[in-house]
Amino acid sequence: MAQRPLLIPGYPRILHGGDYNPDQWLKTPEVIDEDFRLMKLAGCNTFAVGIFAWTSYERQEGVFDFGWLDSVMDRMAAAGNKVVLATPSGAKPAWLAKKYPEVRRVTREGLREPHAGRHNHCWTSPVYREKVADVNARLAERYAQHPALGMWHISNEYSGECYCELCLASFQAWLGRRYGNIEALNEAWWTAFWSHTFTSFDEIDPRDLSVDSLKLDWRRFISDITIDFMRAEMAPLRRFSANVPITTNLMGTCTASDYSKLVAELDLVADDQYPAYSPDAADLERDVVQVAFKDDVHRCFKPDRPWMLMESCPDAPQWRHPVQLKRPKLHQAEMLQALGHGAEGTCYFQWRKGRAGGEKLHGAVVDHAGHEHTRVFQSVAELGAHYENLAEIIGSKAQAEVALLYDWDVRWAFEAAEGVRSQHGEYLSAAVDHYTPFARHGVTVDVLAVERDFSRYKLVIAPQLWLLAPGVVERIRRYVEAGGTFLTTYYSGYCDSTNRCFLGGFPGDGLMSVLGIWNEETDWLPAGSKRRAVSRPEASDLKLQSEYATRELCALVKLQGASALLDYADDFYAGSPALTRHSYGAGTAYYQAAQLASPFLHDFYGALIEQLDLPRSLGRELPAGVAVQRRASASHEYLFLQNFSQQDQTLSLPASGYFDLLQQREVRGALQLGAWDSTVLRRSR
Ligand code: GLA
Ligand code: GLA
Repeated sequence: MAQRPLLIPGYPRILHGGDYNPDQWLKTPEVIDEDFRLMKLAGCNTFAVGIFAWTSYERQEGVFDFGWLDSVMDRMAAAGNKVVLATPSGAKPAWLAKKYPEVRRVTREGLREPHAGRHNHCWTSPVYREKVADVNARLAERYAQHPALGMWHISNEYSGECYCELCLASFQAWLGRRYGNIEALNEAWWTAFWSHTFTSFDEIDPRDLSVDSLKLDWRRFISDITIDFMRAEMAPLRRFSANVPITTNLMGTCTASDYSKLVAELDLVADDQYPAYSPDAADLERDVVQVAFKDDVHRCFKPDRPWMLMESCPDAPQWRHPVQLKRPKLHQAEMLQALGHGAEGTCYFQWRKGRAGGEKLHGAVVDHAGHEHTRVFQSVAELGAHYENLAEIIGSKAQAEVALLYDWDVRWAFEAAEGVRSQHGEYLSAAVDHYTPFARHGVTVDVLAVERDFSRYKLVIAPQLWLLAPGVVERIRRYVEAGGTFLTTYYSGYCDSTNRCFLGGFPGDGLMSVLGIWNEETDWLPAGSKRRAVSRPEASDLKLQSEYATRELCALVKLQGASALLDYADDFYAGSPALTRHSYGAGTAYYQAAQLASPFLHDFYGALIEQLDLPRSLGRELPAGVAVQRRASASHEYLFLQNFSQQDQTLSLPASGYFDLLQQREVRGALQLGAWDSTVLRRSR
């Protein structure tokens, strides 16, 4: 097995620490002294510094002072810690916003925003780019060789859009490059609709919501210009510190920019996550699986590298109401869940609570009390101590034989369309529905953008594959022909890459022939309505129940070579197929016409897991509430186990010879996990 790079070259430790803002405490140096004492006690080694520190470097335009940062960097190096040094573009100085109004965004309504908040600079503004490049270059030049510099943290949680004249012109130029001439755009966008035929690119306004191809291209443009801005930020860093990895903190499955494209520019993937696991949750399993799904999205962005949680919270964030305290043990369980899904660092927002400002009551390692004798500090310190024993997991990898296609571009196109049930994150929700049975079985799933190569997997699942970019169907066809098992659902294959519907029947572009069906219509029922779907004898190998309830979407399909496995039992479509299977080449293609969640997906994928012999972390379905992830190195396998339930669990393990890395002892017989308990087991391969 090839060696994986470390998150920080030459630093083989699990990264543990957090966002650290000494720039807020410069008048009380004794607090900073205390921080360095507490960092050791907390078992923390990595700190993101300077994220919002611009005014502390450049109090007045062109007058720079990096004194405090010099001192913090030196102290970090002396302590053996690493700094994730940020570029400060996430929050701009007031003097800058006042002197150069163009750096402030313009709203959809055409109003220039006041100087306020953060994360709200114009992507296009040459002045902002110049100012950012300047401060970034100074940081890079000054600290490139500093022993404490572990990686760069570009800006903070990039997101948002601006409608200023500069951005509009930039969008029009982007369209010009994309389409070459206005006739090609008119054709691609179907602009005869409502007399939208354009005669020149400068007539196009992204605030027009009536042309859904325009809406899609605006999302793509915003994504591209965000990435372009990030690239501009990175240039001076690359120039002065070519060997220092660069990352930025992402936000799960946020749709602000196409993360699958954005991460291609970065060396490392870092995500921010604030799970709210609670004994009072309406559906705790869903909460846990949603986080697992996002972990796998991030793990798969760069499969040959570890990723890290850049932000999480050892307690409760102030913005989530109610502000329910994190229950004892849950913090460890959350962090081990991320490591199980391939992370090799878990850091916090925030190291210390500020005295004032909007986040003064946001959970932190160090509370206003200021010492280590708090419940939260102790839980962080306990985890920090465990991380010393867990360092050997570094370099081990998850292995998946199932791919689930989850794609930003598909999602944007779907959400741009009128007349489909796309609100409230329906696309993400469907992906999580299909992911859930695998989590219950402890089967690792790779979550991939559609353009990624999926040919090696035993099973490929593509829920709501609304948009088909050129070549996608050909890749699906070859995959199935060669023996693959493929599943897609209602709302698939409607549109091409400029959001025009395929003509000749859905799913278009030839996907119908792989699936052996034609999806003629889709019935969207009122919320909470259900129809029944009943099993047919053809489904006997799947051991399905005799009947399932659908949810609100019931696609009506005609068989064109496939066989029906489930039929609808109600309404005017009683007797027509709700689930089909088509043998195609050496493989099999399923079409799930009815929106069916649990228990159908659980039964169906349970059968496929057996038929395709997909490896399960414990060799069988997991007990309710238990999550288990598997990572392996050439010599060892590691099981990460979390009991996200309030019941004690007794788990029989798939083999003998496990060693509990947290308890530092052999596991004899079954493993006991109390409520919210978590641990990591090792076994030789
Ligand atoms: C109105 C308009 C039509 C069309 C329909 C859609 O009646 O006149 O152009 O938009 O609504 O229902
Ligand atoms: C985000 C930001 C942080 C902080 C936290 C609070 O993740 O990146 O700066 O505001 O939220 O939860």
